[in-house]
Amino acid sequence: MTTTKKLLVARAIFPDIVEALRLSAGVAEVADNPTDEVWSRDALLGRLDGCDGLFCTGSERIDAALLDACPALKAVSTMSVGTNHIDVDACSARGVLVANTPDVLTDTTADLAFALLLACARRVGEGERYLREGRWTKWHYDQLMGADVHGATLGILGMGRIGQAVARRGALGFGMRVIYHNRSRLPAEQEAPLGARWVEKAALLAEADHLVLVLPYSAATHHAIGAAELAQMKPGATLVNIARGGIVDDAALARSLAEGRIGAAGIDVFEGEPHVTPALLAAPNAVLTPHIGSASMKTRRAMAQLAADNLLAALGLGDGRHLPAIVNPQAARR
Ligand code: DGY
Repeated sequence: MTTTKKLLVARAIFPDIVEALRLSAGVAEVADNPTDEVWSRDALLGRLDGCDGLFCTGSERIDAALLDACPALKAVSTMSVGTNHIDVDACSARGVLVANTPDVLTDTTADLAFALLLACARRVGEGERYLREGRWTKWHYDQLMGADVHGATLGILGMGRIGQAVARRGALGFGMRVIYHNRSRLPAEQEAPLGARWVEKAALLAEADHLVLVLPYSAATHHAIGAAELAQMKPGATLVNIARGGIVDDAALARSLAEGRIGAAGIDVFEGEPHVTPALLAAPNAVLTPHIGSASMKTRRAMAQLAADNLLAALGLGDGRHLPAIVNPQAARR
């Protein structure tokens, strides 16, 4: 039985935000990990023992076994919009509130989708390596010819907030024709300004010149893009994954890239990251980034601040100025 509330910040985050969390938490104890030590599962469990609240990132797995080992835990606040590393149902069943950081990263993540899309279509990575390796000796008419982005067909799989932000960039910035597939169709008034058209997944694969994946990871979306789907894509099309590792079968993607079936791929998230399928590393027509979708200074700070505010609010600490982004409000009713 804890008398003073205890909080754990599992990863290094902005020191001033941890300090502000400490001040706002009042008498609650806040332990953190300023050196960003990689804790084993047991080390995490040891530190979490007796804690009421956890500030985590997408790297910590919060499952039923962890919750059972830490019965004092009342709130898990993740500095990510994705919650696939958290067993939300197990949290709800134990009355543990889960909070995430939606909205604040929408536009930054959509920007990275476009950075990857443009880099792939216009072969920026290949061109940069060619130049740096001293291979550029003369201009040539068919040197590093790519695909146009403006006026092309942009396909979006998953049409939540980030999908819509990608659609806006494509339609309004690049004059693209936007098609999308999502479990539910957007209301007509949201589709109209984007000129976006809902299509079946098969049509999305067949018609998109550039396909961006923005759907959450779950058992249902595991390998949503595998060998069969890659084979249905337009020859030479571009694939961009800014969503989650595991949505794409990375080995199948590497084969498709090597065969020249897919023109190029821009990948920010990987199966089993930070490990990356070696065949992808070897693919010249892949642009690979280390899960930096939300990594602008402004956005990462906003995410950290929101996650800290969420944690305080979920535990009834601090000044309660911010409305927490709770994923499972039903847990509070237990
Ligand atoms: C998110 O917010 O889910 C990003 O992928 C960072 O983990």
